[in-house]
Amino acid sequence: MTKPFIAELVKRMSLREKAAQMTQLTPLFFGLEEDMDLTGPLGEKQLKPDDMKHVGSVLGVYDASKFIRLQRKHLEENPYGIPLMNLCDVTHGLRTVFPIPLAMGCSFDMEAVKQSAAVAARESAYMGIHVTYAPMGDLVRDPRWGRVMESPGEDTYLNARFVESMVAGFQGDDPRSPEKVGACFKHFAGYGAAEGGRDYNTVDLSRGVLREYHLPAYLAAVRAGALMAMTSFNTVERIPATVNKWLLRDVLRKEWQFAGAVVSDFNSIDEVICHGVAADGKEAAYKSVTAGLDIEMMSTHYLNELEQLVAAGEVNEALIDQSVIRVLELKDRLGLFENPYKDCDPAKSEEVNLSPEHRRIARDVARKSIVLLKNEDVLPLAKRGKIGLAGPFAESRKVLGGWWALGKAEECVSLKEGLIQAAPGVEIVTAMTGELERIRNGGDVKDEVADAVDTLRDCETVIVAVGEHMEDTGEACSKTELRLSPNQRKLIEALSEAGKKLIMIVFSGRPLVLEEAEARSAALVQAWFLGNESGNALADVLFGDYNPSGRLSMSFPRSIGQIPVYYNRLNTGRPQKSESDKDFVSSYLDSSNSPLFPFGYGLSYSRFEYSGLSLSEDALTASVQVENVSSVGGTETVQWYIRDIAASVSRPVKELKHFEKVSLQAGEKRTLHLKITKEMLSFYADSSSDPVFEPGEFQIMAGRHSEDISGITVRIEEI
Ligand code: GLC
Repeated sequence: MTKPFIAELVKRMSLREKAAQMTQLTPLFFGLEEDMDLTGPLGEKQLKPDDMKHVGSVLGVYDASKFIRLQRKHLEENPYGIPLMNLCDVTHGLRTVFPIPLAMGCSFDMEAVKQSAAVAARESAYMGIHVTYAPMGDLVRDPRWGRVMESPGEDTYLNARFVESMVAGFQGDDPRSPEKVGACFKHFAGYGAAEGGRDYNTVDLSRGVLREYHLPAYLAAVRAGALMAMTSFNTVERIPATVNKWLLRDVLRKEWQFAGAVVSDFNSIDEVICHGVAADGKEAAYKSVTAGLDIEMMSTHYLNELEQLVAAGEVNEALIDQSVIRVLELKDRLGLFENPYKDCDPAKSEEVNLSPEHRRIARDVARKSIVLLKNEDVLPLAKRGKIGLAGPFAESRKVLGGWWALGKAEECVSLKEGLIQAAPGVEIVTAMTGELERIRNGGDVKDEVADAVDTLRDCETVIVAVGEHMEDTGEACSKTELRLSPNQRKLIEALSEAGKKLIMIVFSGRPLVLEEAEARSAALVQAWFLGNESGNALADVLFGDYNPSGRLSMSFPRSIGQIPVYYNRLNTGRPQKSESDKDFVSSYLDSSNSPLFPFGYGLSYSRFEYSGLSLSEDALTASVQVENVSSVGGTETVQWYIRDIAASVSRPVKELKHFEKVSLQAGEKRTLHLKITKEMLSFYADSSSDPVFEPGEFQIMAGRHSEDISGITVRIEEI
């Protein structure tokens, strides 16, 4: 039911004023820069002098004082007193930057994820930000796509848990509360399936696959109460998501009962023309508004076309009113009509940004996001003696990852700084730690490598900090080469040939192709981009002050040629019976089918044994014993998978249905249980909107990762 004051406002607004309320522009357009005139950007967008006082929202004011000035000016000029809404991209922290979401997905610790969002919300609220364009719930299977860094990973269940935790952290019980912001989930829908891993490329998914794998995370955001949704750049069934009525009206509004506001992605209404689904801006505006897109980000077809469309009888003004009401209701849910400045407070913002408490939380989340991939008894390191340190990330502070918001490299802790702070007694000998720019450039490093080997001649063990440049990850950063750069590979090879024990630390925003590096390393640590506390978190793990507990949220391919390689695959009609089985089965002549490291994989300094997988009498509760058989206390992420052996459509060979982190002291044993629910056994049989349960045989599996599990097969007739 629309509040009377909102209905009254809409009644008083002209059609152009409504169109302006449905428009979102960057600060440049709001005339804060005195020399703003209509010949510049405003002119390009055919904006009229009066328009700006009616524009509904601004994209990207990351400055409390600036926002106060902007809001004050806006309220003076807007005749209805409608406040401006400020939306920003705070995806893994604002000034205190947390690990990239793909790394936080590896924590499998949803409390930690929620905490990271709560810190981000606190810093954002005092900055004058009302809504963040996060969480991103796009399911990803192709590391060539630079935006895998923004995703929780390749699994439907984990992505859904991650997204709901982020929404809870951002919004709390009520986003109008102090230190909370609204959440806008994205990119609806299926953006992560871009063909070839090439950003903005075609997405072509069946409805069944879209519903089974890609939509659940967005649905989780809706169920968690996210205030907004953002449409994706890509097509869904050859219709751009931005104008896709099935997606926006049938699924989002009707099936999911989403009552929030829907915003386009940047200029994506205009891009409907490029997609070839609108002849011009007028048709793009028509298709967008009839699909139910409420806010046009950084294009102005609503402003320039809606009046004519209504005048021509092609669009009913009532449809536009529905969108304007959703925009005003969003501002009302944020409390902006009562207090247009909400928590905006420059002094408070300075006080909380990067506070010791926030850094402490960031360090904790970072440690939990690190994944130990290999360890031939070289880790943890002793805090004494001499150790070599080489590679472009050894001393670099460019570890924030993509979408770093207000993060500053100079406020990050480098790996070397972390090592020194954690173990001042260790003698660190550095070599070839030159800046990241060398990563991108080839060039002859023969002499430098020889010097490095010579410099490190007395170091038996060498930490080699390698990876990809953080500005090569994120939006519009797709790559066809995922191995380490040639000069890094040359350094690794030379040190390996010199007989050094190599501890490889990989800094990346995506799974890189590490087969060569892995073969030459005694230990391999996936460091992702961990944000401000990177060096401290890594030192905690390397010296054993924190027992690594991260598990991969995305498979690591052996080669580019394997992509896409993911754990919850279909069986096919000719599955391999063994690695060596290559005769007329689904396999490669020149490679294994399995990834280098599978989903859910990660090592610890402890060792956990699983036993006694069993089912209750009614077969609806599974149990398994987990024992810490080592002498080191640690945390295991127990993973539960289910397979539907035979159904009306082919079902994955396994699907993660539950995970539980359990901390066990040395020698401690614990029995864990899984209550099997109908939801766990149900799936989308075709494009029907509701998941179905089909009686039959199911395999219930438990274990330490997707390729190291044991299972029990059981027939379940009803549940
Ligand atoms: C970008 C991204 C989107 C972001 C938006 C606003 O193009 O696709 O994730 O939220 O524009 O910056």
